[in-house]
Amino acid sequence: MVGTTSRNTGVEGVEGGVGLTALLVAAARAIETHRHDTLARDIYAEHFVLAAPASAGWPVRMQQVPDGDTNPLWGRFARYFGLRTRVLDDFLLRSVHMGDARQVVLLGAGLDSRAFRLDWPPGCVVFEIDREGVLAFKHMVLDGLSATPKAARIPVPIDLRADWAGALADAGFDTDAPSVWLAEGLLFYLPAAAETDLIDTVDRLSTGGSALAYEVKLDKDLLEYRDSPLYTATAHQIGIDLLNLFDREPRPDSAGHLTSRGWDTSVRTPFDFTRRHGRGPLPEPNDALAGNRWVFANKPRP
Ligand SMILES: C[S@@+](CC[C@H](N)C(=O)[O-])C[C@H]1O[C@@H](n2cnc3c(N)ncnc32)[C@H](O)[C@@H]1O
Repeated sequence: MVGTTSRNTGVEGVEGGVGLTALLVAAARAIETHRHDTLARDIYAEHFVLAAPASAGWPVRMQQVPDGDTNPLWGRFARYFGLRTRVLDDFLLRSVHMGDARQVVLLGAGLDSRAFRLDWPPGCVVFEIDREGVLAFKHMVLDGLSATPKAARIPVPIDLRADWAGALADAGFDTDAPSVWLAEGLLFYLPAAAETDLIDTVDRLSTGGSALAYEVKLDKDLLEYRDSPLYTATAHQIGIDLLNLFDREPRPDSAGHLTSRGWDTSVRTPFDFTRRHGRGPLPEPNDALAGNRWVFANKPRP
């Protein structure tokens, strides 16, 4: 195993701890981008992976993975991230193009390059919240590529356990206008109380006509899957011990909470979308993805 303990603690950038998971998703997006049957293209993803010392030697194309698609990490897990990227791209684009929301907030944005690669309607603002070190690395890479965002883009460097609503307001977020929110690959790293707080805050900052998508893990006991190929491959091949990074407290029922506050919610499995798109992960025995759910919520207008 590659120095898991030292990588997983007390680090603010992408070089370790939860920040390193942003590079994992970027590598998966790079691999997905180069497939002939790609579900989501992210031309920036491989640049993040190639720029960070922490991801030295990681693949950015499937041809660089000796066992290819059958590899539990760069095959199945990367397929999962590819599908997730596509489904959430579709959610964001649908929300802004079919409604009048022009503020998009990416919570735990990591190396998400949607501000640079999606076709946003005129007047759209994309706020990106993550910790300072992660956003600094992102800017270094994107500046080096002279990348131009396709919407007004406002980074908000702050820890989501601090007063991020205040930082978002200072950055120009308008609570009187509808908004679209995304928490992709984030909530299971936060303590249960921080998840409840975050969902409450999104509700408080959202006027009618707003939309939210997020990912949760509903497993009662994550350790039940500690021997799953997905977790063991991630730990052995790249030294990320996900179970050590995930918060292991019982999770709150955030979708139920939103419903009780008047939001229309639907809770889907990733496998639903695999069937719809004809590619992606399917259930398997001892499946670390069994409890993953993608939640879509809309706040009706009064
Ligand atoms: C798995 S990555 C996902 C990144 C991005 N949403 C994506 O899907 O590409 C998790 C991200 O959550 C961020 N994150 C985790 N805990 C956080 C916290 N307390 N405050 C701010 N960001 C946090 C990490 O820095 C990292 O960028």
